[in-house]
Amino acid sequence: MKRITVIGVGYVGLVTAACFADLGNRVVALDVNEARIEGLKQGIMPIYEPGLEELVRRNVKAERLSFTTSYAEALQGAEFAFIAVGTPSGVNGEADLQYVAAAARAIAENMSGPLIIINKSTVPIGTGDWVADIVQRHQKHPYPFSVVSCPEFLREGTAISDFMNPYRVVVGSLDREAAEKVAQLHLPLRAPIVITDLRTAEMIKYASNAFLATKISFINEIADICEAYGADVKEVAAGMGYDKRIGPYFLDAGLGWGGSCFPKDVKALAYMAQEKGLTPRILQSVMEVNYRRRKDVVRVLQEMLGDLRGKVIGLLGLAFKPNTDDMREAPSIDIAEGLLAAGAEVRAYDPVAMPGAQALLPAVKMYPDPYQMAQGCDALVVVTEWNEFKQLDLERLRQLMRLPVLLDGRNIYQPQLMHQLGFIYRGIGRGNTHGGS
Ligand code: NAD
Ligand code: UGA
Repeated sequence: MKRITVIGVGYVGLVTAACFADLGNRVVALDVNEARIEGLKQGIMPIYEPGLEELVRRNVKAERLSFTTSYAEALQGAEFAFIAVGTPSGVNGEADLQYVAAAARAIAENMSGPLIIINKSTVPIGTGDWVADIVQRHQKHPYPFSVVSCPEFLREGTAISDFMNPYRVVVGSLDREAAEKVAQLHLPLRAPIVITDLRTAEMIKYASNAFLATKISFINEIADICEAYGADVKEVAAGMGYDKRIGPYFLDAGLGWGGSCFPKDVKALAYMAQEKGLTPRILQSVMEVNYRRRKDVVRVLQEMLGDLRGKVIGLLGLAFKPNTDDMREAPSIDIAEGLLAAGAEVRAYDPVAMPGAQALLPAVKMYPDPYQMAQGCDALVVVTEWNEFKQLDLERLRQLMRLPVLLDGRNIYQPQLMHQLGFIYRGIGRGNTHGGS
Protein backbone atom coordinates (compact mmCIF):
# COMPACT_ATOMS: atom_id res chain seq x y z
CA MET A 1 0.00 0.00 0.00
CA LYS A 2 1.39 3.37 -1.06
CA ARG A 3 0.20 6.80 0.01
CA ILE A 4 -0.85 8.77 -3.03
CA THR A 5 -2.19 12.28 -3.53
CA VAL A 6 -4.10 13.13 -6.69
CA ILE A 7 -4.51 16.81 -7.55
CA GLY A 8 -7.57 17.67 -9.64
CA VAL A 9 -10.68 15.50 -9.58
CA GLY A 10 -11.81 15.83 -13.20
CA TYR A 11 -12.06 12.99 -15.73
CA VAL A 12 -8.43 11.95 -15.29
CA GLY A 13 -7.85 12.78 -11.62
CA LEU A 14 -10.95 11.15 -10.23
CA VAL A 15 -10.48 8.00 -12.30
CA THR A 16 -6.77 7.85 -11.33
CA ALA A 17 -7.60 8.30 -7.65
CA ALA A 18 -10.39 5.72 -7.60
CA CYS A 19 -8.38 3.16 -9.60
CA PHE A 20 -5.22 3.46 -7.49
CA ALA A 21 -7.39 3.12 -4.37
CA ASP A 22 -9.01 0.04 -5.86
CA LEU A 23 -5.54 -1.40 -6.40
CA GLY A 24 -5.08 -1.23 -2.62
CA ASN A 25 -3.35 2.13 -2.15
CA ARG A 26 -4.37 4.91 0.26
CA VAL A 27 -5.38 7.85 -1.92
CA VAL A 28 -6.34 11.40 -1.03
CA ALA A 29 -7.85 13.34 -3.93
CA LEU A 30 -7.78 17.12 -3.86
CA ASP A 31 -9.45 19.85 -5.86
CA VAL A 32 -9.70 23.62 -5.49
CA ASN A 33 -13.35 23.39 -6.55
CA GLU A 34 -15.10 23.18 -3.18
CA ALA A 35 -18.46 22.20 -4.65
CA ARG A 36 -16.86 19.22 -6.41
CA ILE A 37 -15.21 18.02 -3.22
CA GLU A 38 -18.32 18.60 -1.12
CA GLY A 39 -20.35 16.64 -3.66
CA LEU A 40 -17.84 13.79 -3.73
CA LYS A 41 -17.93 13.56 0.05
CA GLN A 42 -21.68 12.98 -0.33
CA GLY A 43 -21.19 10.45 -3.12
CA ILE A 44 -22.19 12.83 -5.95
CA MET A 45 -20.00 12.46 -9.05
CA PRO A 46 -18.92 15.70 -10.76
CA ILE A 47 -18.84 13.94 -14.15
CA TYR A 48 -20.71 11.18 -15.93
CA GLU A 49 -18.43 8.19 -16.42
CA PRO A 50 -19.78 4.63 -16.50
CA GLY A 51 -18.84 2.61 -13.38
CA LEU A 52 -17.18 5.53 -11.59
CA GLU A 53 -19.78 6.12 -8.90
CA GLU A 54 -19.68 2.52 -7.75
CA LEU A 55 -15.85 2.44 -7.79
CA VAL A 56 -15.64 5.64 -5.75
CA ARG A 57 -18.27 4.49 -3.28
CA ARG A 58 -16.56 1.12 -2.72
CA ASN A 59 -13.15 2.67 -2.05
CA VAL A 60 -14.46 5.48 0.17
CA LYS A 61 -16.26 2.84 2.23
CA ALA A 62 -13.05 0.80 2.51
CA GLU A 63 -11.29 4.01 3.69
CA ARG A 64 -8.77 3.84 0.86
CA LEU A 65 -10.10 7.00 -0.84
CA SER A 66 -10.92 10.40 0.63
CA PHE A 67 -11.42 13.94 -0.65
CA THR A 68 -10.20 17.33 0.50
CA THR A 69 -9.57 20.90 -0.61
CA SER A 70 -6.57 21.24 1.73
CA TYR A 71 -3.14 20.71 0.17
CA ALA A 72 -1.58 20.28 3.63
CA GLU A 73 -4.02 17.52 4.48
CA ALA A 74 -3.71 15.87 1.07
CA LEU A 75 0.09 15.76 1.14
CA GLN A 76 0.48 14.61 4.73
CA GLY A 77 2.63 11.48 4.54
CA ALA A 78 2.30 11.19 0.75
CA GLU A 79 5.02 9.44 -1.24
CA PHE A 80 3.54 10.22 -4.67
CA ALA A 81 1.60 13.30 -5.86
CA PHE A 82 -0.12 13.10 -9.25
CA ILE A 83 -0.93 16.37 -11.00
CA ALA A 84 -4.12 15.90 -13.06
CA VAL A 85 -5.38 19.45 -13.54
CA GLY A 86 -6.65 20.86 -16.83
CA THR A 87 -4.35 22.21 -19.56
CA PRO A 88 -6.82 23.98 -21.87
CA SER A 89 -5.97 25.92 -25.03
CA GLY A 90 -4.60 29.40 -24.57
CA VAL A 91 -5.46 32.26 -26.92
CA ASN A 92 -2.92 31.26 -29.59
CA GLY A 93 -3.45 27.52 -29.36
CA GLU A 94 -0.70 26.98 -26.80
CA ALA A 95 -1.39 24.87 -23.71
CA ASP A 96 -2.43 27.11 -20.81
CA LEU A 97 -0.30 25.98 -17.88
CA GLN A 98 -1.72 28.23 -15.17
CA TYR A 99 -3.39 25.34 -13.30
CA VAL A 100 -0.25 23.20 -13.45
CA ALA A 101 1.79 26.14 -12.12
CA ALA A 102 -0.67 26.71 -9.27
CA ALA A 103 -0.65 23.01 -8.37
CA ALA A 104 3.17 22.85 -8.45
CA ARG A 105 3.45 25.87 -6.22
CA ALA A 106 0.89 24.55 -3.73
CA ILE A 107 2.69 21.19 -3.63
CA ALA A 108 5.98 22.97 -2.90
CA GLU A 109 4.44 24.97 -0.08
CA ASN A 110 2.69 22.01 1.54
CA MET A 111 4.83 18.91 1.00
CA SER A 112 5.57 17.17 4.28
CA GLY A 113 8.55 15.03 3.28
CA PRO A 114 10.37 13.57 0.27
CA LEU A 115 7.98 13.39 -2.68
CA ILE A 116 7.73 12.07 -6.22
CA ILE A 117 5.64 14.53 -8.24
CA ILE A 118 4.07 12.80 -11.21
CA ASN A 119 2.61 14.85 -14.00
CA LYS A 120 -0.42 13.19 -15.58
CA SER A 121 -1.79 16.29 -17.28
CA THR A 122 -0.96 16.64 -20.98
CA VAL A 123 1.75 19.29 -21.04
CA PRO A 124 4.15 20.79 -23.59
CA ILE A 125 7.62 19.38 -23.90
CA GLY A 126 9.81 20.88 -21.21
CA THR A 127 7.03 21.37 -18.65
CA GLY A 128 8.47 18.75 -16.29
CA ASP A 129 11.68 20.75 -15.94
CA TRP A 130 9.65 23.93 -15.47
CA VAL A 131 7.54 22.28 -12.72
CA ALA A 132 10.73 21.16 -10.96
CA ASP A 133 11.94 24.74 -11.04
CA ILE A 134 8.66 26.06 -9.57
CA VAL A 135 8.75 23.49 -6.77
CA GLN A 136 12.39 24.26 -6.03
CA ARG A 137 11.68 27.98 -5.75
CA HIS A 138 8.61 27.66 -3.50
CA GLN A 139 9.56 24.88 -1.12
CA LYS A 140 9.20 25.85 2.54
CA HIS A 141 11.48 22.97 3.59
CA PRO A 142 14.16 21.58 1.29
CA TYR A 143 12.72 18.05 1.13
CA PRO A 144 14.13 16.01 -1.74
CA PHE A 145 11.72 15.62 -4.67
CA SER A 146 11.64 14.40 -8.23
CA VAL A 147 9.37 15.25 -11.15
CA VAL A 148 8.25 12.36 -13.34
CA SER A 149 6.06 12.46 -16.44
CA CYS A 150 3.41 9.74 -16.63
CA PRO A 151 0.92 10.81 -19.30
CA GLU A 152 -2.59 9.38 -19.27
CA PHE A 153 -4.09 7.64 -22.30
CA LEU A 154 -7.61 6.86 -21.06
CA ARG A 155 -10.69 7.73 -23.11
CA GLU A 156 -13.84 9.22 -21.68
CA GLY A 157 -16.70 6.76 -21.57
CA THR A 158 -14.35 3.80 -21.06
CA ALA A 159 -12.03 5.54 -18.62
CA ILE A 160 -11.91 2.90 -15.89
CA SER A 161 -11.19 -0.04 -18.11
CA ASP A 162 -8.69 2.04 -20.13
CA PHE A 163 -6.90 3.02 -16.91
CA MET A 164 -6.86 -0.53 -15.57
CA ASN A 165 -5.83 -2.11 -18.91
CA PRO A 166 -3.57 0.36 -20.67
CA TYR A 167 -1.73 -0.51 -23.89
CA ARG A 168 1.38 0.86 -22.16
CA VAL A 169 2.49 2.99 -19.23
CA VAL A 170 4.97 5.74 -20.06
CA VAL A 171 7.29 6.92 -17.30
CA GLY A 172 9.65 9.79 -18.03
CA SER A 173 12.42 10.92 -15.71
CA LEU A 174 16.17 11.23 -15.58
CA ASP A 175 15.97 10.17 -11.91
CA ARG A 176 16.17 6.40 -12.37
CA GLU A 177 15.12 5.60 -8.79
CA ALA A 178 12.00 7.77 -9.01
CA ALA A 179 11.14 6.28 -12.41
CA GLU A 180 11.47 2.76 -11.02
CA LYS A 181 9.17 3.62 -8.08
CA VAL A 182 6.53 5.02 -10.42
CA ALA A 183 6.89 1.95 -12.64
CA GLN A 184 6.39 -0.28 -9.55
CA LEU A 185 3.19 1.57 -8.71
CA HIS A 186 1.84 0.56 -12.13
CA LEU A 187 2.98 -3.08 -12.03
CA PRO A 188 -0.49 -4.40 -11.06
CA LEU A 189 -1.77 -3.09 -14.41
CA ARG A 190 0.40 -5.70 -16.17
CA ALA A 191 1.10 -3.39 -19.08
CA PRO A 192 4.37 -2.77 -20.94
CA ILE A 193 6.19 0.04 -19.16
CA VAL A 194 8.25 2.46 -21.23
CA ILE A 195 10.85 4.22 -19.12
CA THR A 196 12.36 7.23 -20.84
CA ASP A 197 13.37 10.83 -20.17
CA LEU A 198 10.90 13.57 -19.20
CA ARG A 199 10.73 15.35 -22.54
CA THR A 200 10.35 12.17 -24.56
CA ALA A 201 7.49 11.03 -22.29
CA GLU A 202 5.75 14.37 -22.75
CA MET A 203 6.13 14.07 -26.52
CA ILE A 204 4.81 10.49 -26.63
CA LYS A 205 1.48 11.79 -25.33
CA TYR A 206 1.13 14.55 -27.95
CA ALA A 207 2.35 12.36 -30.77
CA SER A 208 -0.14 9.63 -29.82
CA ASN A 209 -3.15 11.96 -29.74
CA ALA A 210 -2.06 13.72 -32.93
CA PHE A 211 -1.63 10.38 -34.71
CA LEU A 212 -5.10 9.19 -33.69
CA ALA A 213 -6.60 12.50 -34.84
CA THR A 214 -4.69 12.12 -38.12
CA LYS A 215 -6.12 8.65 -38.63
CA ILE A 216 -9.66 10.01 -38.23
CA SER A 217 -9.09 12.99 -40.53
CA PHE A 218 -7.52 10.65 -43.06
CA ILE A 219 -10.53 8.32 -43.14
CA ASN A 220 -12.83 11.34 -43.34
CA GLU A 221 -11.00 12.56 -46.42
CA ILE A 222 -11.28 9.06 -47.88
CA ALA A 223 -15.02 9.18 -47.03
CA ASP A 224 -15.46 12.27 -49.17
CA ILE A 225 -13.70 10.57 -52.08
CA CYS A 226 -15.84 7.44 -51.52
CA GLU A 227 -18.94 9.59 -51.64
CA ALA A 228 -17.88 11.25 -54.87
CA TYR A 229 -17.21 7.92 -56.57
CA GLY A 230 -19.92 5.71 -55.06
CA ALA A 231 -17.81 3.56 -52.73
CA ASP A 232 -18.70 2.72 -49.12
CA VAL A 233 -16.16 4.00 -46.58
CA LYS A 234 -17.32 1.56 -43.88
CA GLU A 235 -16.32 -1.34 -46.07
CA VAL A 236 -13.16 0.45 -47.17
CA ALA A 237 -12.14 0.94 -43.51
CA ALA A 238 -12.95 -2.67 -42.67
CA GLY A 239 -10.91 -3.84 -45.65
CA MET A 240 -7.97 -1.65 -44.66
CA GLY A 241 -8.14 -2.60 -40.99
CA TYR A 242 -7.26 -6.26 -41.52
CA ASP A 243 -3.75 -5.12 -42.37
CA LYS A 244 -1.97 -5.19 -39.01
CA ARG A 245 0.20 -2.26 -40.08
CA ILE A 246 -2.97 -0.17 -40.37
CA GLY A 247 -5.24 -1.71 -37.72
CA PRO A 248 -9.04 -1.48 -37.51
CA TYR A 249 -9.30 1.23 -34.84
CA PHE A 250 -9.99 4.93 -35.25
CA LEU A 251 -11.17 4.49 -38.80
CA ASP A 252 -14.81 5.45 -38.21
CA ALA A 253 -15.67 8.20 -40.67
CA GLY A 254 -18.20 10.76 -39.52
CA LEU A 255 -18.52 14.27 -38.22
CA GLY A 256 -14.93 14.26 -37.00
CA TRP A 257 -13.17 14.48 -33.69
CA GLY A 258 -14.01 16.76 -30.80
CA GLY A 259 -13.66 16.60 -27.05
CA SER A 260 -11.41 17.99 -24.42
CA CYS A 261 -8.21 16.59 -25.85
CA PHE A 262 -7.69 16.03 -29.58
CA PRO A 263 -8.60 19.62 -30.51
CA LYS A 264 -6.41 21.26 -27.89
CA ASP A 265 -3.55 18.79 -28.17
CA VAL A 266 -3.22 18.90 -31.97
CA LYS A 267 -3.32 22.70 -31.74
CA ALA A 268 -0.74 22.78 -28.95
CA LEU A 269 1.62 20.46 -30.83
CA ALA A 270 1.35 22.62 -33.95
CA TYR A 271 2.04 25.67 -31.79
CA MET A 272 5.13 24.00 -30.29
CA ALA A 273 6.45 23.24 -33.76
CA GLN A 274 5.86 26.82 -34.91
CA GLU A 275 7.61 28.16 -31.82
CA LYS A 276 10.76 26.45 -33.11
CA GLY A 277 10.32 27.80 -36.64
CA LEU A 278 8.87 24.58 -38.05
CA THR A 279 5.79 24.32 -40.29
CA PRO A 280 3.56 21.45 -39.09
CA ARG A 281 1.83 20.88 -42.45
CA ILE A 282 0.24 17.54 -41.59
CA LEU A 283 -1.15 18.79 -38.29
CA GLN A 284 -2.60 21.86 -39.99
CA SER A 285 -4.34 19.72 -42.62
CA VAL A 286 -5.60 17.32 -39.96
CA MET A 287 -7.31 20.23 -38.19
CA GLU A 288 -8.61 21.77 -41.41
CA VAL A 289 -10.16 18.50 -42.60
CA ASN A 290 -11.73 17.99 -39.20
CA TYR A 291 -13.40 21.35 -38.83
CA ARG A 292 -14.75 21.24 -42.37
CA ARG A 293 -16.84 18.20 -41.37
CA ARG A 294 -18.96 20.37 -39.12
CA LYS A 295 -19.59 23.02 -41.79
CA ASP A 296 -20.46 20.33 -44.32
CA VAL A 297 -23.54 19.34 -42.30
CA VAL A 298 -25.21 22.62 -43.25
CA ARG A 299 -24.23 22.19 -46.92
CA VAL A 300 -25.48 18.59 -47.09
CA LEU A 301 -28.79 19.48 -45.42
CA GLN A 302 -29.19 22.35 -47.89
CA GLU A 303 -28.68 19.82 -50.69
CA MET A 304 -31.31 17.55 -49.16
CA LEU A 305 -33.86 20.18 -48.04
CA GLY A 306 -33.12 23.35 -50.01
CA ASP A 307 -33.23 26.65 -48.12
CA LEU A 308 -33.00 25.88 -44.40
CA ARG A 309 -34.90 28.98 -43.26
CA GLY A 310 -37.86 27.85 -41.16
CA LYS A 311 -36.86 24.17 -41.42
CA VAL A 312 -36.94 22.16 -38.19
CA ILE A 313 -33.80 20.07 -37.61
CA GLY A 314 -33.43 17.62 -34.72
CA LEU A 315 -29.99 16.60 -33.44
CA LEU A 316 -29.67 13.08 -32.08
CA GLY A 317 -26.82 13.44 -29.60
CA LEU A 318 -24.85 16.42 -28.31
CA ALA A 319 -21.88 15.02 -26.34
CA PHE A 320 -18.60 14.82 -28.29
CA LYS A 321 -18.83 11.03 -28.11
CA PRO A 322 -21.13 8.46 -26.49
CA ASN A 323 -21.02 7.54 -22.78
CA THR A 324 -19.91 10.96 -21.61
CA ASP A 325 -21.62 14.24 -20.75
CA ASP A 326 -18.54 16.18 -21.91
CA MET A 327 -19.46 19.01 -24.28
CA ARG A 328 -15.94 20.44 -24.65
CA GLU A 329 -15.32 21.06 -28.38
CA ALA A 330 -18.30 18.86 -29.27
CA PRO A 331 -19.06 18.96 -33.02
CA SER A 332 -22.74 19.49 -32.04
CA ILE A 333 -21.96 23.06 -30.95
CA ASP A 334 -20.65 24.19 -34.36
CA ILE A 335 -23.31 22.17 -36.17
CA ALA A 336 -26.17 23.69 -34.15
CA GLU A 337 -24.74 27.19 -34.55
CA GLY A 338 -24.30 26.69 -38.31
CA LEU A 339 -27.89 25.51 -38.71
CA LEU A 340 -29.24 28.38 -36.60
CA ALA A 341 -27.23 30.84 -38.69
CA ALA A 342 -28.78 29.31 -41.83
CA GLY A 343 -32.22 30.11 -40.38
CA ALA A 344 -33.26 26.65 -39.16
CA GLU A 345 -35.04 25.87 -35.91
CA VAL A 346 -32.76 23.48 -34.02
CA ARG A 347 -33.87 20.88 -31.51
CA ALA A 348 -31.82 18.30 -29.66
CA TYR A 349 -31.91 15.21 -27.52
CA ASP A 350 -28.98 13.60 -25.67
CA PRO A 351 -29.23 10.96 -22.93
CA VAL A 352 -26.85 12.76 -20.52
CA ALA A 353 -25.33 15.92 -22.02
CA MET A 354 -28.40 18.19 -22.18
CA PRO A 355 -27.96 20.00 -18.85
CA GLY A 356 -24.41 21.07 -19.77
CA ALA A 357 -25.31 21.71 -23.40
CA GLN A 358 -28.25 24.00 -22.73
CA ALA A 359 -26.00 26.76 -21.35
CA LEU A 360 -23.76 26.52 -24.44
CA LEU A 361 -26.66 26.40 -26.89
CA PRO A 362 -29.42 28.57 -25.41
CA ALA A 363 -31.26 28.83 -28.75
CA VAL A 364 -31.59 25.04 -29.10
CA LYS A 365 -34.71 23.47 -27.63
CA MET A 366 -33.96 20.28 -25.69
CA TYR A 367 -36.43 17.38 -25.65
CA PRO A 368 -36.92 14.60 -23.08
CA ASP A 369 -36.85 11.84 -25.72
CA PRO A 370 -36.08 11.35 -29.42
CA TYR A 371 -39.70 10.77 -30.44
CA GLN A 372 -41.00 14.02 -28.96
CA MET A 373 -38.12 15.79 -30.65
CA ALA A 374 -38.84 14.18 -34.04
CA GLN A 375 -42.47 15.32 -34.05
CA GLY A 376 -42.73 17.79 -36.95
CA CYS A 377 -39.00 17.71 -37.85
CA ASP A 378 -37.88 18.23 -41.47
CA ALA A 379 -34.64 16.36 -40.82
CA LEU A 380 -32.79 14.47 -38.12
CA VAL A 381 -29.00 14.41 -37.80
CA VAL A 382 -27.19 11.69 -35.85
CA VAL A 383 -24.39 13.65 -34.18
CA THR A 384 -23.36 11.21 -31.41
CA GLU A 385 -23.60 7.43 -31.80
CA TRP A 386 -25.26 6.61 -28.47
CA ASN A 387 -26.30 2.95 -28.34
CA GLU A 388 -29.91 3.90 -27.63
CA PHE A 389 -30.10 5.54 -31.08
CA LYS A 390 -29.27 2.18 -32.66
CA GLN A 391 -32.37 0.71 -31.00
CA LEU A 392 -34.88 3.40 -31.98
CA ASP A 393 -38.27 2.49 -33.44
CA LEU A 394 -37.37 4.00 -36.81
CA GLU A 395 -40.79 3.42 -38.35
CA ARG A 396 -42.40 5.42 -35.53
CA LEU A 397 -39.74 8.11 -35.84
CA ARG A 398 -40.36 8.53 -39.56
CA GLN A 399 -44.11 8.78 -39.09
CA LEU A 400 -43.64 11.58 -36.55
CA MET A 401 -41.45 13.66 -38.88
CA ARG A 402 -42.74 16.26 -41.34
CA LEU A 403 -40.17 15.11 -43.91
CA PRO A 404 -38.35 11.75 -43.59
CA VAL A 405 -34.83 13.15 -44.06
CA LEU A 406 -32.07 11.58 -41.96
CA LEU A 407 -28.40 12.53 -42.08
CA ASP A 408 -26.49 9.81 -40.27
CA GLY A 409 -23.35 11.64 -39.18
CA ARG A 410 -21.91 8.54 -37.48
CA ASN A 411 -22.98 5.81 -39.94
CA ILE A 412 -24.97 3.86 -37.36
CA TYR A 413 -27.81 2.74 -39.66
CA GLN A 414 -27.88 0.42 -42.64
CA PRO A 415 -28.56 2.49 -45.75
CA GLN A 416 -30.66 -0.18 -47.50
CA LEU A 417 -32.88 -0.64 -44.46
CA MET A 418 -33.35 3.09 -44.08
CA HIS A 419 -34.44 3.39 -47.71
CA GLN A 420 -36.82 0.48 -47.25
CA LEU A 421 -38.30 2.24 -44.23
CA GLY A 422 -39.00 5.26 -46.42
CA PHE A 423 -36.26 7.59 -45.20
CA ILE A 424 -34.39 9.97 -47.46
CA TYR A 425 -31.14 8.79 -45.93
CA ARG A 426 -27.54 9.89 -46.19
CA GLY A 427 -24.57 8.55 -44.30
CA ILE A 428 -20.97 9.77 -44.45
CA GLY A 429 -18.87 8.44 -47.32
CA ARG A 430 -21.46 5.88 -48.36
CA GLY A 431 -21.64 7.02 -51.95
CA ASN A 432 -23.60 4.09 -53.35
CA THR A 433 -26.44 4.71 -50.90
CA HIS A 434 -27.94 7.81 -52.41
CA GLY A 435 -27.97 7.42 -56.12
CA GLY A 436 -24.52 5.93 -56.92
CA SER A 437 -24.12 2.48 -58.48
P1 NAD B 1 -10.96 18.44 -15.95
O1 NAD B 1 -11.19 19.82 -16.39
O2 NAD B 1 -12.06 17.44 -16.04
O3 NAD B 1 -10.47 18.45 -14.44
C1 NAD B 1 -9.45 19.25 -13.95
C2 NAD B 1 -9.68 19.47 -12.47
O4 NAD B 1 -8.56 20.17 -11.93
C3 NAD B 1 -10.91 20.33 -12.16
O5 NAD B 1 -11.76 19.65 -11.24
C4 NAD B 1 -10.31 21.61 -11.54
O6 NAD B 1 -11.13 22.19 -10.54
C5 NAD B 1 -9.03 21.08 -10.94
N1 NAD B 1 -8.00 22.09 -10.66
C6 NAD B 1 -7.66 23.17 -11.41
N2 NAD B 1 -6.66 23.85 -10.82
C7 NAD B 1 -6.35 23.17 -9.69
C8 NAD B 1 -5.38 23.36 -8.67
N3 NAD B 1 -4.51 24.37 -8.71
N4 NAD B 1 -5.34 22.48 -7.66
C9 NAD B 1 -6.21 21.46 -7.60
N5 NAD B 1 -7.15 21.22 -8.54
C10 NAD B 1 -7.21 22.07 -9.58
O7 NAD B 1 -9.69 17.93 -16.76
P2 NAD B 1 -9.41 16.47 -17.36
O8 NAD B 1 -10.27 16.23 -18.55
O9 NAD B 1 -9.42 15.47 -16.26
O10 NAD B 1 -7.93 16.66 -17.90
C11 NAD B 1 -6.84 16.82 -17.03
C12 NAD B 1 -5.56 16.66 -17.83
O11 NAD B 1 -5.46 15.31 -18.30
C13 NAD B 1 -5.46 17.54 -19.07
O12 NAD B 1 -4.13 17.93 -19.25
C14 NAD B 1 -5.89 16.62 -20.19
O13 NAD B 1 -5.33 16.99 -21.43
C15 NAD B 1 -5.32 15.30 -19.73
N6 NAD B 1 -6.05 14.12 -20.23
C16 NAD B 1 -7.41 14.13 -20.25
C17 NAD B 1 -8.09 12.99 -20.69
C18 NAD B 1 -9.59 12.96 -20.77
O14 NAD B 1 -10.13 12.00 -21.32
N7 NAD B 1 -10.32 13.94 -20.26
C19 NAD B 1 -7.37 11.84 -21.05
C20 NAD B 1 -5.97 11.87 -20.98
C21 NAD B 1 -5.32 13.02 -20.56
C1 UGA C 1 -8.71 10.57 -26.66
C2 UGA C 1 -7.72 9.41 -26.82
O1 UGA C 1 -8.38 8.31 -27.47
C3 UGA C 1 -7.18 8.95 -25.48
O2 UGA C 1 -6.19 7.93 -25.67
C4 UGA C 1 -6.54 10.15 -24.78
O3 UGA C 1 -6.10 9.78 -23.49
C5 UGA C 1 -7.54 11.27 -24.66
O4 UGA C 1 -8.04 11.63 -25.98
C6 UGA C 1 -6.96 12.49 -24.07
O5 UGA C 1 -5.79 12.75 -24.20
O6 UGA C 1 -7.75 13.17 -23.44
P1 UGA C 1 -11.26 10.81 -25.92
O7 UGA C 1 -11.12 12.20 -26.42
O8 UGA C 1 -11.87 10.57 -24.60
O9 UGA C 1 -9.82 10.10 -25.89
O10 UGA C 1 -12.15 9.99 -26.95
P2 UGA C 1 -11.89 9.18 -28.32
O11 UGA C 1 -12.60 7.90 -28.21
O12 UGA C 1 -10.47 9.15 -28.69
O13 UGA C 1 -12.67 10.09 -29.36
C7 UGA C 1 -12.21 11.39 -29.68
C8 UGA C 1 -13.04 11.95 -30.81
O14 UGA C 1 -12.77 11.27 -32.02
C9 UGA C 1 -14.55 11.82 -30.60
O15 UGA C 1 -15.17 13.02 -31.02
C10 UGA C 1 -14.96 10.68 -31.50
O16 UGA C 1 -16.27 10.79 -31.95
C11 UGA C 1 -13.96 10.84 -32.63
N1 UGA C 1 -13.69 9.57 -33.35
C12 UGA C 1 -13.05 8.56 -32.73
C13 UGA C 1 -14.03 9.46 -34.68
O17 UGA C 1 -14.61 10.40 -35.28
N2 UGA C 1 -13.73 8.30 -35.35
C14 UGA C 1 -13.09 7.26 -34.76
O18 UGA C 1 -12.84 6.24 -35.43
C15 UGA C 1 -12.75 7.39 -33.41
